[in-house]
This record gives sequence, C-alpha cells and structure tokens, in this order.
Amino acid sequence: MATKSPIVDIHTHVYPPSYIALLKSRSSIPYIRSFPPSSSLRLVILPAEDTESTSRGRPVGKEYYDIEEKIRFMDAHSIDISVISLANPWLDWMAASDAARAARGINDEVDANCARFPGRLFAFATLPLSGGREVIVGEIERLRDLRFMRGVILGTTGLGKGLDDPELLPIFEALEAAKLPIFLHPHYGLPSSVWGERANDYGHVLPLALGFPLETTIAVTRMILAGVFEKVPDLQMILAHSGGTLPFLAGRIESCIEHDAHLKAEGKLGKGRKTVWEILKKNIYLDAVIYGEVGLRGAIQASGDDRVMFGTDHPFFPPLGDEGGKWMSVETNYEAIKGALGTGSEEAKRALGEMQSEY
Ligand code: URA
Ligand code: ZN
Repeated sequence: MATKSPIVDIHTHVYPPSYIALLKSRSSIPYIRSFPPSSSLRLVILPAEDTESTSRGRPVGKEYYDIEEKIRFMDAHSIDISVISLANPWLDWMAASDAARAARGINDEVDANCARFPGRLFAFATLPLSGGREVIVGEIERLRDLRFMRGVILGTTGLGKGLDDPELLPIFEALEAAKLPIFLHPHYGLPSSVWGERANDYGHVLPLALGFPLETTIAVTRMILAGVFEKVPDLQMILAHSGGTLPFLAGRIESCIEHDAHLKAEGKLGKGRKTVWEILKKNIYLDAVIYGEVGLRGAIQASGDDRVMFGTDHPFFPPLGDEGGKWMSVETNYEAIKGALGTGSEEAKRALGEMQSEY
C-alpha cells in the first residue's frame, strides 16, 4: 500500500510560555496586556500596531503558546512535521547581560517541547543577538547538544547594523560549520512615514503585505552586495515569504550590480563574484508562504523546485470569523503549490516536505 508522502511546515511559530511571561511583564513593544474595558489580552509587537487608532495589536490565545494547540492545528491541516520557531521579535530587544541566559532557556524549552511529540516537531533555535559575538557563537555551538534543532531563526538587524555587517562573518561561519541554515524572517518593516497619513485606517495591511517582504528583500540584497555568499560559500538561508520580492527583483538587482561604475572601480565585478541567480540556486531556500500561484511560480523559477518549501505562518493569519476547521491562509498556500507544481506530482510532494522529512 502506498504511504502518504509527508507534509512538513517549515514556517510556523510559537511563543513558549516563558517568553509570554516576559511579554506580560513589559509595557513597551513587544508586550502583552489588556485594554480596559475589555479584559482580553492583546499581543503588541510591531511598531505599526502600537497606536491608539488601529485596534492595538492582536488577540492572543493559546494557539500562540500552547504546543498541544500546534499539534491540533497540524492534525487539522494534514501536517505531519512542523519545524517550530520563536516568533518575532525574538530576543532582539533583550538587555545584553540577559541575552545568553534567555536564549539558553528558550532553546532548551523548545527542544523539550519537541521531545514530547517524537517525529512531529523540530525547531529553529533563537540566538542571543544582543549578547555580542562570543555569546552568539557559544550558543550556536551549544545547539549541537539539542536533538531537535535544525537551524536558527534570525531577524534583519544582526548586531544592530544589518546583515551586511562584517562583524557578523564569524557568526555566519559558525552556522556554516555547524550546518545550520538561517531562517530569515522580517519584523521591523519599513519606516512608518512611507505608509502616509491614513495608515491607521488600513489596519495591518501595509506593514505586513509590503513592509515585511521589502525588509527581507533589502536585508538579503545587502548581504549579496557585501559579498557574504562568496566569503561564506556554503551558508544556507531559508527566506520567509518566498524571499519577499527577491525572486521578482533578482534580474533588476543583478543588472544594477553589473552596471554600477562604483562597484566596477572597486574591483567587485570581476571573476569570483556570485550572481544573484547563482546565490538563489546555491545558498537560498524559499518558503512557499506567498498565497498565490504567480508568486510561487516566480520563487520556483528563481531557486528551483527543490528549494521551495511549504509553510503556514501559524498562528498568524487565523480566520477572522468562527469558520472552524481549516484556515484559509493555509489552504491558499496548499492551492498555490498544487496549481504551480501539479496535484500529486513529484515536485509538489517535494515542496510539501518529502525531502525535508529526511533531515
Ligand atoms: N505577523 C507577524 O508579526 N509575524 C509573522 O510571522 C506573521 C505575521
Ligand atoms: Zn512568520
């Protein structure tokens, strides 16, 4: 009898209970609190949602922190394996002196949660970014002892100067040596001034639909321009939201590089330069969290159908009504995979998780 091919969700978040407790103790973003007269708790993490006029933050229920709720969600959507990651803004905001201990605590907690559901949960670890280089590299090395860690989740700020900062190279080298991919995820978006005076009338749409993907695109493009993928040639990155707009803009970025007199004068266009297209095919995986066939086809053409992987972004984008059962955000991503790669095709099975399940 044919066995069903596995479905792996590589973009799915949790805030472990200890992190939720930290958020409840805070009053500036990121924080969790109620806004009387309502007693229900709201999660406020994005600068754009910390305003009086948009309903502040979002409701936070147990799907954000209860690992059993994750398993229920997986079962409801036929997901066999989830690679869970702490959701944004991770530990970016931690005081330097607390970062090492916080990262150890979160990573141990997440690893122990994975151990409770053998074969169903793996994780991307959190790095103590504010702790400085030695602390970060120390945690990367410690991850070897954690059974379920398969990479690290990272935002776009790095040590405070972005991901093209030369100070990050030893960290990228440590990840390359440990064979741990970076799951790159946005959080900060673009400066709120770009959304205009009416931004508060539009809920979360502009920062989430446009700010997030552009943040990712800019971060990776800066890494490409800084030569990170030549200096750390086997570094592997999984880009959230199908790389933001990177697949769509790759040709333009590559052309701007090739036509830049400054780069030429600095000798940066010679032999040994990896093109954007080469980097997309050798160093980059893209999740399939793009909610449409057109974008997904672009991702597949850019990186190859062996480098595109199903994800849900759970617990974000829940149904707004009481729809019960399946989440529209998840079904839309399933449909895009079927539309772009063919229902039941070998390529679709691979994108859904056949290959990832072997790791
Ligand atoms: N909104 C967030 O803040 N994070 C996500 O991962 C998705 C939506
Ligand atoms: Zn996400």
